[in-house]
Amino acid sequence: MKRKWWQNKIAYQIYPKSFQDTNGDGIGDIPGIIKRLDYLQELGIGILWISPVYVSPCADQGYDIADYYAIDPMFGTMADMEELLKEADKRNIKIVMDLVVNHCSDEHEWFRKACEDPEGEYGKYFYFAKKENGKLPCNWRSYFGGSVWEPLAGTDWYYFHSFHKKQPDLNWENPKVREEVYKMMNWWLEKGLGGYRVDAIINIKKPLPFQDYPADRTDGLCDMSEVLKHASGIGDFLGEMRDETFYKYDAFAVGEVFNEKEEELKDFMGENGYFSTIFDFSQTNAGKSPKGWYDNRIPTVDEYKQCCFNSQRKAEGSGMYSNIIENHDEPRGVSYYLPEVARHDMGKKLLAAEYFLLKGLPFIYQGQELGMENMAYTSIDQVNDISSIAEYEECMRVGMSKEDAMKVISQYSRDNGRTPFQWDDTENAGFTTGTPWLQVNPNYVRINAKEQEQNSESMLNFYRRLSSLRRSEKYEDILVYGETIPYLEEEHGLMAYFRKGGRQDIFVAGNFLEEEKIVPLQDSREKQVLLSNADVDWAGESLILKPFQVVVLSVG
Ligand code: GLC
Ligand code: CA
Repeated sequence: MKRKWWQNKIAYQIYPKSFQDTNGDGIGDIPGIIKRLDYLQELGIGILWISPVYVSPCADQGYDIADYYAIDPMFGTMADMEELLKEADKRNIKIVMDLVVNHCSDEHEWFRKACEDPEGEYGKYFYFAKKENGKLPCNWRSYFGGSVWEPLAGTDWYYFHSFHKKQPDLNWENPKVREEVYKMMNWWLEKGLGGYRVDAIINIKKPLPFQDYPADRTDGLCDMSEVLKHASGIGDFLGEMRDETFYKYDAFAVGEVFNEKEEELKDFMGENGYFSTIFDFSQTNAGKSPKGWYDNRIPTVDEYKQCCFNSQRKAEGSGMYSNIIENHDEPRGVSYYLPEVARHDMGKKLLAAEYFLLKGLPFIYQGQELGMENMAYTSIDQVNDISSIAEYEECMRVGMSKEDAMKVISQYSRDNGRTPFQWDDTENAGFTTGTPWLQVNPNYVRINAKEQEQNSESMLNFYRRLSSLRRSEKYEDILVYGETIPYLEEEHGLMAYFRKGGRQDIFVAGNFLEEEKIVPLQDSREKQVLLSNADVDWAGESLILKPFQVVVLSVG
């Protein structure tokens, strides 16, 4: 496979609203990102994805865009954005923006015009329909609850939304829509943007004509993820998008793709794939129930390992996944994949090394490098995220107590990842001098960047070491391109693998159990410890792993 400029990078995701406020309005902004570029450079970041900063009424925190060509004043100005591109470039960091084009905001000009005349030119940018014999065109359930069809006030029209009713879906079957999208993408790429994180893209192809599918809950509706299994032909749109945009600029693109089939991987992220890479969501999806969060189950460490290894095998020869333990839609990785007994720095470092050294592009989500944790919400009033509110209602609908419902919300809420970044131990964690838009996690007095800068054994410094290792002249090639070979895969509580480099390999072994674990390594080659979260002990050819210890070796 041809080597590409992005493959040896380390990526970082910023959720701008919660990263760094500079003007005291309690909302993170673009000047705040600029202010922290040196911090990111020190972490070795080469690709910086920033969640949406376009003009938006913020029904879904910027994932509802009202103007793709303008920066929302809450985040700053276009001049700030241009400065960010320039300053990032000086530090060899490529800026990647969110591309949210399955839908726009209901406040976008296109939609406003469409509502004036659903049968006119702009009506065709969306999906409008009327009831026939008293029945809606289909029984699909939107991701944020309820029917995908919303009545257009004062008319007998309905419009389609896969997500919130303030996020009407764009009609990708209309070539005019696709043309507008590509034009907009290229406008940004011309400005020096490095590429895109492509939001919810799997939704652009619907199984048309609209029709009912078997209901999966008592509401008589069918889940969108089920519906989409019946759609085919998305490749025509995605291939066109690649040719019209990314390809021309050698841009980076990472797709938010769910439920991809093994045989499709090459199409999505192979050498001439629609995207450069797609996220591996196999572990985030493990244990999730179609019924809702209340019915979810947290994966065990063995399941976590299995998801990672299965994905590594699937991807080999087909491209490179992007690896995460969390993002702005997920709970904090350390509060989710680690058993409760392991939720301390040693356990957090174990999880960090295990996922970071897998083959693929490692993404760090803001605050992950500090070991930021979930919130413990006690009332739904503390929660802002629309999907959490919908899931809370679902908990109520199935008869849960408020207390139990809040346990579910605390475990899964997207707000867990959206609490403000913990810069230091001053009021509001150094995030803002005003009132933060979302409550700061009170553990900031203990977990914050300033303290971790000074402590050589901190999470932050551990992530810096992982990052240096991946970028080191000596090991970069193995860590970027070497195949992953699981080791003692069936061993309960152990996650161990080789990254193959030919003459030399890298070996990663981690113990997720509360007891010591002995890992036999019958390999006569020379071994050198590259990284660990504790002193490394041997018994002859065997590694003795302490509880929650991870060891990274070079072998050969
Ligand atoms: C993606 C985003 C999520 C958003 C949704 C709708 O899944 O990551 O935050 O709510 O798309 O745009
Ligand atoms: Ca601000």
